[in-house]
Amino acid sequence: MKALICPSLGPVENLKIMDVEEPVAGAGEAVVEIAYAALNFFDTLIIEGKYQLKPEPPFSPAGEFSGRVAALGAGVSGFAIGDRVMGSAGFGAARERIAVPASRLAHVPDGLPLDKAAGLSIAYGTTIHALKQRAEMKPGETLVVLGASGGVGLAAVEIGRAMGARVIACASSDDKLAFARRFGAAETVNYATQDFRARLKALTGASGVDVVYDPVGGALAEPALRSLGWKGRFLVIGFASGEIPRIPLNLVLLKGCDIRGVYWGDFVAREPEANRDNMSQLLDWAVSGELSVHIHAKYALEEYEKAFEAIAKRQTLGKTLLRFTGA
Ligand SMILES: NC(=O)c1ccc[n+]([C@@H]2O[C@H](COP(=O)([O-])OP(=O)(O)OC[C@H]3O[C@@H](n4cnc5c(N)ncnc54)[C@H](OP(=O)(O)O)[C@@H]3O)[C@@H](O)[C@H]2O)c1
Repeated sequence: MKALICPSLGPVENLKIMDVEEPVAGAGEAVVEIAYAALNFFDTLIIEGKYQLKPEPPFSPAGEFSGRVAALGAGVSGFAIGDRVMGSAGFGAARERIAVPASRLAHVPDGLPLDKAAGLSIAYGTTIHALKQRAEMKPGETLVVLGASGGVGLAAVEIGRAMGARVIACASSDDKLAFARRFGAAETVNYATQDFRARLKALTGASGVDVVYDPVGGALAEPALRSLGWKGRFLVIGFASGEIPRIPLNLVLLKGCDIRGVYWGDFVAREPEANRDNMSQLLDWAVSGELSVHIHAKYALEEYEKAFEAIAKRQTLGKTLLRFTGA
């Protein structure tokens, strides 16, 4: 079968499409015929050994996928051959078939196409965990989302709106902001052309922002944190800008605010029940149309370089998929 392989750590030019051994389902595992593998920003880092998860080469990138169950190992219950499923694996999904623990799979309900299901686990799973368990966000609160047109950013706009927040989308171009408005942003800030702090202040007045969702980091983090109101929560999601910000702790004291870390991978391992409840809520919202899970593009496996380039060049709006034979 064909697989996209990272034979040694390095840039995307290192990657190769190769023929590899068919996977076999071990005890507790299922083999899934992949329809779509979704790429995330971290895939651009993992192939270079610059992400917190550091698999030994050779490996396949892509941490989430959708497809159909092709084989079941001993002791697996609740799944049958041919079932439509989605799941996350950390890495390894950019291949025609993958063996994964059945506990990492969820059924894809009727009415949800496999392309939308492929990108639901990580970006949307991270975001519902961030806003629900970490921020404990309540209806009517104000949510500021940085990088609001990207994978996790768009998820935050959509889930924020679904949870009843007033969403302020922030991004680097007016096109990206118009896109975020289509999916539920009530207000927008262009941080490339506007005074970011002054605009947030004008939009939120004396009460300030309740929750900041920050997947970008760098120079935007401190002004966003300064915009928080009393008991505001700043969610540390990631550092797509490439720079980990340093925050003066006196700001946290003066605002009585919290900086809260979000690490979805460990949440899934440590709190599987809570993650299952989150996924069930996401699937309900996706089927009812509350969440769009907008797809930026579906690339054939042979076009993987274009897919990585779109993410690295900051061009994607929503999710980026690789298409496989199961589609
Ligand atoms: N904590 C967790 O559990 C968890 C889970 C999933 C993802 N993440 C993290 O979340 C971050 C975003 O992931 P994603 O998959 O949503 O990425 P994405 O789709 O590529 O979106 C990232 C956004 O960041 C902004 N950005 C600013 N500087 C950038 C740069 N130099 N290169 C690329 N984008 C830049 C862009 O928006 P503008 O152009 O509008 O600024 C872009 O839309 C990553 O750091 C990822 O590791 C964390």
